[in-house]
Amino acid sequence: MPKKDILFLNACVRGEASRTLDLANRFLAQIPNAEITCLPLEKLGLLPLDRARLHERDHLLHEGKTDAPFFVHANTFRRAQWIVIAAPYWDLSFPSLLKLYFENVCCSGVTFAYDEAGCPVSLCRAERLIYITTAGGYIGENNYGYTYVRAVMEQFFGVKKSCLISAEGLDIVGNDPKAILAAAASQFSAALG
Ligand SMILES: Cc1cc2nc3c(=O)[nH]c(=O)nc-3n(C[C@H](O)[C@H](O)[C@H](O)COP(=O)(O)O)c2cc1C
Repeated sequence: MPKKDILFLNACVRGEASRTLDLANRFLAQIPNAEITCLPLEKLGLLPLDRARLHERDHLLHEGKTDAPFFVHANTFRRAQWIVIAAPYWDLSFPSLLKLYFENVCCSGVTFAYDEAGCPVSLCRAERLIYITTAGGYIGENNYGYTYVRAVMEQFFGVKKSCLISAEGLDIVGNDPKAILAAAASQFSAALG
């Protein structure tokens, strides 16, 4: 059986100290028959789409140069079957690094196109999103990070199955973060199934 192409987007700013990364690594170890490409977002030198870069992008698209280095992240993203994201819960969503990544890969003509009715059609292989997060408090109704990423993945990239794995209340005095993180593994099977 061919291996599943997994793209792991690591938006864990605290590096090895990150509990989100620890949870994600434990999840990744459970995926059978996987070819995992790890992208530490902090090390990619991602830039925002400012006026000059937007102009450059439009020019490359107009020339049909969708394999230009400018689109390297979009093209890697296009080939992945499962997208696994590890992002701590920051300011009710996620670190801006992850938004920068999406700004770099959401590109009409490379990762999706518009049909005649103006609806996005995926040009990616993505089947599944697994979004892994940890929070100091409780996320409750304020799940803006996952909700946003899920909408992008489903509406632009045609993802059919989205799963959230979260460990919450880690910074609340009196809670036992180690026990909460260990218990979060009970969510792995739903994401793998
Ligand atoms: C910049 C920043 C913003 C945060 N914002 C929130 C927040 O809005 N709500 C919350 O419950 N915890 C918040 N936290 C706490 C983190 O969600 C929590 O410590 C999380 O487990 C950090 O993940 P990590 O260990 O992977 O870095 C924030 C932490 C930082 C550093």
